[in-house]
Amino acid sequence: MNDVLSPETVKLDTVPLSPHIATEIRGLDLAKPLDGATIAALRRLWLDRAVLLFRGQTFTQEDLLRFAGYFGEVGKRGLSGKAIPSALGGVHPDIMFISNIRKDGKTIGALPDGEMNFHHDMIQTEIPHIASLLYAIEVPSYGGDTCFASGHAAYDTLDPEIKARLEGKRAFHHYQYGSQKRGEPGRASDLVDEFAHPVFRTHEENGRKAIYVNRLMSLKIEDMEEPESSELLAALFDHAEKDEFVYRHQWKVGDLVIWDNRNSMHARTDFPSDQRRLMWRTQVRGTQRPY
Ligand code: OGA
Ligand code: MN
Repeated sequence: MNDVLSPETVKLDTVPLSPHIATEIRGLDLAKPLDGATIAALRRLWLDRAVLLFRGQTFTQEDLLRFAGYFGEVGKRGLSGKAIPSALGGVHPDIMFISNIRKDGKTIGALPDGEMNFHHDMIQTEIPHIASLLYAIEVPSYGGDTCFASGHAAYDTLDPEIKARLEGKRAFHHYQYGSQKRGEPGRASDLVDEFAHPVFRTHEENGRKAIYVNRLMSLKIEDMEEPESSELLAALFDHAEKDEFVYRHQWKVGDLVIWDNRNSMHARTDFPSDQRRLMWRTQVRGTQRPY
């Protein structure tokens, strides 16, 4: 159960949550600043496991931002991020709500309702955020689970023939804020971002390759005719979403999860619309284009 890292690092109390992705870390109070050796050990574990879970945390928004800062520079929220009403306890510009709660008929946060397909956050932009964090404040009695899929495990087991056909190719990604609808490639606008990135992304810190397309946002392989592009994308989605690559997280109040958008994608299961769900969310900026 206790992973032993290299001797000069601190020992973390860790529990792997699935074979390929996600580890829980016990015994850390993240409302207090962490020392450098602990931060280094967490970063190393994160680069290996893509998703870290800490349960039972009691945070202020500043605590959440300090913790996010251990992984890089805290990123601005996307267009879908709304300022938090002060009546709801905060206005920090780098934190957004993910919530279905409505006040006077209007949602107080982003991504309010129901299920979401697998995606990589901000893949539709030139330099996507490398990490996202969610901290659970209110959770429904069932559903609203977040599923994380390992892009490395999916790449490593991909059919070699598909791999060969896609090696060196890029795919167009597109996202319309506030909507799960997919658009047409080549239709970027103020509301619709679009960018092309490698189908197989090399992680700049661990050197491993990951499948870097997803069902929600990836529209087309560049320089490939239809129907070949759609057929190959469908094969990639179906493979990368297999249960064996996935950790499904059932939220409890006080859970903090940080995930790596370079080598994992995530999805959300449906939940009852008449039950409240509220998460604080922040993110860590990328520093370079995916390659
Ligand atoms: C996100 C996201 C999933 C969830 O915040 O990027 O995909 O479970 N959230 O709310
Ligand atoms: Mn997301």
